[in-house]
Amino acid sequence: MNKYDIPEQWHGQASTPIAPADAYNGYIAANVIFALDRLGLMERIGRGDRLYTEDYADNGRALALLRAATCCGYLKADDDVYIPTEAGREIARSRGYFTWAVGGYNEVFGNAGQLTDGLRHYDPSDIHRDEAMVALGSAQCDQAMFAALLDEVLDDVDFGTIADLGSGNSARVSRVVSQRPGTRGMGIDISEPATLMARRDIASAGLQDRVQAVQADVLDVLDRQRQLEITGEVDTVMSFFLLHDLLANPGTRADIMPRMREAFPNARRFVLGDTMLRDRIDHESMQPIFSVGFELAHAMMGVPLHTKATYDRIFTDAGLRIARVEPFATPHSWLYVLDVV
Ligand SMILES: C[S@@+](CC[C@H](N)C(=O)[O-])C[C@H]1O[C@@H](n2cnc3c(N)ncnc32)[C@H](O)[C@@H]1O
Repeated sequence: MNKYDIPEQWHGQASTPIAPADAYNGYIAANVIFALDRLGLMERIGRGDRLYTEDYADNGRALALLRAATCCGYLKADDDVYIPTEAGREIARSRGYFTWAVGGYNEVFGNAGQLTDGLRHYDPSDIHRDEAMVALGSAQCDQAMFAALLDEVLDDVDFGTIADLGSGNSARVSRVVSQRPGTRGMGIDISEPATLMARRDIASAGLQDRVQAVQADVLDVLDRQRQLEITGEVDTVMSFFLLHDLLANPGTRADIMPRMREAFPNARRFVLGDTMLRDRIDHESMQPIFSVGFELAHAMMGVPLHTKATYDRIFTDAGLRIARVEPFATPHSWLYVLDVV
């Protein structure tokens, strides 16, 4: 931690101003990374698997992607084989950010000009994000970056039934429940594709008797417009990277946490993580991964973001005690353990 009580790496590793060649090549590299991941090749690059040219001999586009990845320094070409470099293995560990940006927010970023001048609108019938890709990107980041800290934090939480709000593909709630015999879990997500993905994964992990994936708007659950069977059983609520969306409406912002407590009346503990608005952009010569994209995407969607101080106040005003707060891997993201007092 440094003088602003944030991890040093959150100040950034990418130098600015970003030169034209870096900006252009970064855009292409992001698309190449996303394409390789959709083809299942990032997983293999992450493992250090060699990729043989002969396997792609009849697919010129695949060869073009491998060539582009080689130009980016993620593969090393050696006669008829591509060998992952250390940078390639590192980018594979970070691929969730690219699934999020390219897969999830491609339309939003690509139409930022038209959204700004009002020719296009962020709504389901015009410009929208791909929720399933946002959920998948988050799940990829979870495995690579968040799982160890979250598991350590949950070791101290004695839960029987846990709900995950904005659960995406329910990978996290499934993992947490599978690690603790006798527990149950429920993932709630607004997205149909993410919920279908969750149900498929829960069934293939044999967890269908213990983990339920429900498609619902969490705001409807908090408003009690949507009653779910096991909310009364839930003793622990978790939610990651959703709160900023729930807090978007200034008219209901102060009610979200009190309503969450009412909707889960027996919950004694809330484990919540979110990415927050940076207090200050003090190191103007460096930028971390993710923060600029996260802030810009939400501005384009008309979703205001909040600083950590605002989250602290929203939690304590709702009668929750901050038992623990930790930096949560992704820049400017914090993990809170909140106790009902
Ligand atoms: C950034 S992703 C995070 C997914 C997951 N919590 C994780 O950390 O991997 C946000 C998720 O919240 C879901 N979501 C957004 N608004 C929602 C709402 N009002 N009710 C339920 N889910 C919502 C999205 O579909 C998406 O899966």
